[in-house]
Amino acid sequence: MSKVLVGAFMFLMASGNCLAQSPIILRSPDQQVRLTVSLQPDGKCLYQVDYKGKSVITPSSLGFELKEPLVSLKQFDIVSVDSSAVDETWKPVLGEVKEIRNHYKLLRLQLTSRSNDRYLLNIHFRVYNDGVAFRYQFPRQDKLFHFVIADELSEFGMAADHNAFWIPGDYDTNEYPYYNSTLKNIDASGAGSAQEIFAKSYFDKNAVQTPLMMKSPDGLYINLHEAALSNYPAMDLVLDKNRMVFTSHLVPDAVGNKAYMIAPAQTPWRTIIVSDKAAEILASKLILNCNEPCALKNTSFIKPQKFVGVWWEMHVGISSWDYSGGQVGSQQASKVPHGANTANVKRYIDFAAKYGFDAVLVEGWNTGWEDWFGKWKEDVFDFVTPYPDYDIEEITRYAKEKNVRMIMHHETSSSVTNYERHMDTAYKFMVNHHMNAVKTGYVGRIIPRGEYHDGQWMVRHYERVAKATAEKGIMVDMHESVRLTGMHRTYPNWVASEAARGNEFNAWSVGNQPFHETVLPFTRFMGGPMDYTPGIFKIKMNHYNKDKKEQVHTTLCKQLALYVVFYSPIQMAADLPENYETKPDAFQFIRDVATDWDDTKILAAEPGDYVLTARKQKNASNWFVGGITDENARTISVDFSFLDPGIKYMATIYSDGPDADWKNNPESYKIQKLIVTSKDKSVLKMAPGGGFAISLAPVKNLTK
Ligand code: NOJ
Ligand code: CA
Repeated sequence: MSKVLVGAFMFLMASGNCLAQSPIILRSPDQQVRLTVSLQPDGKCLYQVDYKGKSVITPSSLGFELKEPLVSLKQFDIVSVDSSAVDETWKPVLGEVKEIRNHYKLLRLQLTSRSNDRYLLNIHFRVYNDGVAFRYQFPRQDKLFHFVIADELSEFGMAADHNAFWIPGDYDTNEYPYYNSTLKNIDASGAGSAQEIFAKSYFDKNAVQTPLMMKSPDGLYINLHEAALSNYPAMDLVLDKNRMVFTSHLVPDAVGNKAYMIAPAQTPWRTIIVSDKAAEILASKLILNCNEPCALKNTSFIKPQKFVGVWWEMHVGISSWDYSGGQVGSQQASKVPHGANTANVKRYIDFAAKYGFDAVLVEGWNTGWEDWFGKWKEDVFDFVTPYPDYDIEEITRYAKEKNVRMIMHHETSSSVTNYERHMDTAYKFMVNHHMNAVKTGYVGRIIPRGEYHDGQWMVRHYERVAKATAEKGIMVDMHESVRLTGMHRTYPNWVASEAARGNEFNAWSVGNQPFHETVLPFTRFMGGPMDYTPGIFKIKMNHYNKDKKEQVHTTLCKQLALYVVFYSPIQMAADLPENYETKPDAFQFIRDVATDWDDTKILAAEPGDYVLTARKQKNASNWFVGGITDENARTISVDFSFLDPGIKYMATIYSDGPDADWKNNPESYKIQKLIVTSKDKSVLKMAPGGGFAISLAPVKNLTK
């Protein structure tokens, strides 16, 4: 890592409000982003952000309500101001690019409150070429050591009635479908009708979650989120439609408090990413840059993975998680076989070995699924006792023989106290059974009762899991966790989370509209990798049961494209082995596609409409391209100028058949091969709800 601290270039000491008349202005290294901070005569500290002369954040105030001590921190005097610049590069363990530049100007404000007891509060701003981040710091002081936050009062003023992509604010779930409306038309009360989500805590019709993606009428793309969420609750945003101002709303705990702090303490960074090009929002590394460097000494066990699993068959309702056969994704009345039986698991191991997958996930292998959630019961799973038909010793032996790793599944059913009691033993059990990856899950209401999935208690739990698994050399993929905020920089073994509405909803609910996947890169993925579970080839659920109406809202080629468009170092080939074996030519793309990258180029993007991404495989010369569209058909030109010049590539293009359509003919596709170089362009058609995928291998490497 190279670190250049371009020395402090401004230092001011001030007392009283003498800076009120002279706002502090800091510009990004390229001068395009301008941060203005000012202290008002009444002591309010306002910040404002502009990009290329257009307003991103209108003057917005900052502060806190504390509960213990009972004090408002809203009016301040400035003690000191200094600024400096940082320019460094670092290498992620796994990532979308090989190297990341962290280049920003830093402004540090030291404030004292105008309360009777004068409390010290620092605010740090970073101004990047692609946006602004700020965080609060509470220094240790005689009057402030242990304290309780009642509310954070960070405002984000909007200059106009932007077009927004949002999900309802909620303390427990981020598995909502996306809404697209102007800010004034936000109405989150529809959250109540999302019956397919089991633990919901919707709280305000004007509340939304972050990452929140917006487009202004004057053409700016603005993304609000947070970075480095550690020991603090997640932040939702509540819009005051009269003032057009969002205010932070922290997820409370069981008794209504927001956060318990010990000074010195700091909040996560509040992130404001901006550009006049949608593609630049997707390329932003601001959130990762605001996270702490890798905290792990040993990262050698962290490896990208492609895996298959005993999983989709439960979601489509042909096998069950529990031994007695009653627990299936569609919650149907009739009983089906238990999926995680030794013979079936061996079938998946054989399939993984034959087609070059790294690992096999098995859900429903352990006792407890009979009443796993819904009863709010504490002692559910012990995470070490297999069902009688799951011979774990034999499976461990067989997988080793076939050179395939097994992925552990820990569904906690949100009885987190129970999981905490068993975690250590459960991770040792994994190590003893040659497993180095675990998928965790938090379906249902949290125990300790009254806590929420996104509150401080749970945020601390997810971090404890990330640390405890790292100590044992285990990678972790968390489902129903808090949304990601770039913490995978610090704990790269936290390889992914679900934390949004994944493909599984298509199997047993109204599902995900065709535009869903064109929104996710601008929202959920801004915080880090998502385990979306792509790769469904049998798209209509009436294949499994003629009465079923559910389907994945996609064409087959769009499922292929998701492996490139969605960044995750662990990717599942989610469909059943037999569904892949009947389409070996299309399956070839899933076998070939990489999951860890040296480079990424966003070729074109518009939230809610389309995304086209090209990525270069880590330590290899192969490139992969994925393109997806919403419910509209599109013809697009792929410009191959991103390819290394002077090299001929064999392009294998997987595209929607001429008659393909997500609703009426989703499985129609065609495959073409052609030689291309960096000078070529290719015109491709995407069907309604469709997409395309391309693999590009230098011709000299061709084996066929
Ligand atoms: C919800 C998870 O997202 C899904 O992947 C899993 O199969 C079920 N919970 C059961 O744990
Ligand atoms: Ca889920």
